[in-house]
Amino acid sequence: MLPPSTSTPDVSRKARPLVFRFRCIACGHLSDDAAQNFRCVNCGDLLEITYPRWKEAKPNADQLKSAWKQRRLSLDSVDLSGVWRFREFLPFVSDQAVISLREGNTPLYDLPQCARITGVPRLFAKHQGLNPTGSFKDTGMTVAATFARLAGFRWVACASTGNTSASMAAYAARGGLRSLVLVPEGKISWSKLSQALDYGAVTCQLRTDFDGCLRLLQELVLRAPVYQLNSINPFRLEGQKTLALELLEQLDWQPPDHIIVPGGNLGNSSAIGKALLEMHALGLISHLPKLSVIQSEGANALVRTLREADGKRLVSVHAETRATAIRIGNPASWKKAVHVLEATGGACEQVTEIEIAQAKAEIGAEGIGCEPASAVTLAGLKKLLQKGFVKPEESVVLVLTGNLLKDPDFTIEFHRGDLFKDTSDEDAGVALKALRRPPIVLDATLDAVIRTLEQAEKF
Ligand code: F0G
Repeated sequence: MLPPSTSTPDVSRKARPLVFRFRCIACGHLSDDAAQNFRCVNCGDLLEITYPRWKEAKPNADQLKSAWKQRRLSLDSVDLSGVWRFREFLPFVSDQAVISLREGNTPLYDLPQCARITGVPRLFAKHQGLNPTGSFKDTGMTVAATFARLAGFRWVACASTGNTSASMAAYAARGGLRSLVLVPEGKISWSKLSQALDYGAVTCQLRTDFDGCLRLLQELVLRAPVYQLNSINPFRLEGQKTLALELLEQLDWQPPDHIIVPGGNLGNSSAIGKALLEMHALGLISHLPKLSVIQSEGANALVRTLREADGKRLVSVHAETRATAIRIGNPASWKKAVHVLEATGGACEQVTEIEIAQAKAEIGAEGIGCEPASAVTLAGLKKLLQKGFVKPEESVVLVLTGNLLKDPDFTIEFHRGDLFKDTSDEDAGVALKALRRPPIVLDATLDAVIRTLEQAEKF
């Protein structure tokens, strides 16, 4: 069976007169269509989306900002989406084509307690975990799912550590598409798995890791008429760019000194970096924030790629971390991430399992919470401060990528004191005792509850 092309008459040149094109990140080859695997037909590297119209007539920065602000008062469904509101930065085709769950529109919080802990008074969190399916993936999925349907596909598919699959399944269901999920067996949280099931995906738990799932998906899309929704798909990254647009709008277009983001498959850092570079090129911001990527020590492919190979070739690793969302050893978008780190002057750091658990509890104690992979940002900030890369007087935005409820097992094990049991971190984990709030089982008497209250008052 011959798979349909990723472009159909609807999104072909006639319908989108030079609205967007695909460009290879390595050889620069430009095309109006992308192959099924979203790789360059010349050299096989990744593609990105470009906007030829920006060259012909540079959009006016003030007019864009004012149009985006105006749309916040609109009741049109594309304007209610925190992604499509910024459609001048997106491969937008028509209002009717869009599959949306009103993604984006996420809050920017201050973090007074973490500010005290780190000594950085101007510390903020952009909470992407407050998207419709609980992670930043929704901002990219609305765009990529829209193009999957426009291209006439019936099936969409992804490999995932959990969040992509939850998001893809939801947007597919919303858009009347069928979805196929490939996840590593036993390596993703039940919450994420349950989302994919509830949204009706065909869910395969493969006896391999994430990297194995992604490899298989790459082969599958060349053999079967399924549209791949991993972040290799450049439409995903275009949608994820809006995190940066919305953030800068929330900061009244005054760039922070630093943006810190977790790194797994490295699509998100690449997307945020692309948005920053585009905003700068079009004059929406006067200077670039430094974009830094933080990885878990057990899944540190980018850290090693930069340290051991100067960013010139990928150093893959066998990934192992309790922050399962970023348990990735062979990140697909590593070249894009290296580019945005270099272009913005950002850093790349790694943090330990203990540091992740501590940071997660500290963010939780702010009353906002996040999943373990998101907490690497705070842990990484502490490292970047120690190294003098971030100065206490600078402003810092942490990107929290996933909701606290995404991985309740981690949280419960942490508070019960079981997270590091029988691991090499067991002794070090004891030092986090003061942060733990284990559930207390009591007889159902007033006395018992009052005694517990009095006990708690002492701490
Ligand atoms: N944070 C969370 C909560 C994630 O789910 C992911 C990736 C990342 C950070 C890393 O982002 O891959 O763009 O560098 N999750 C993917 C998934 C891989 O399948 O859900 P990245």
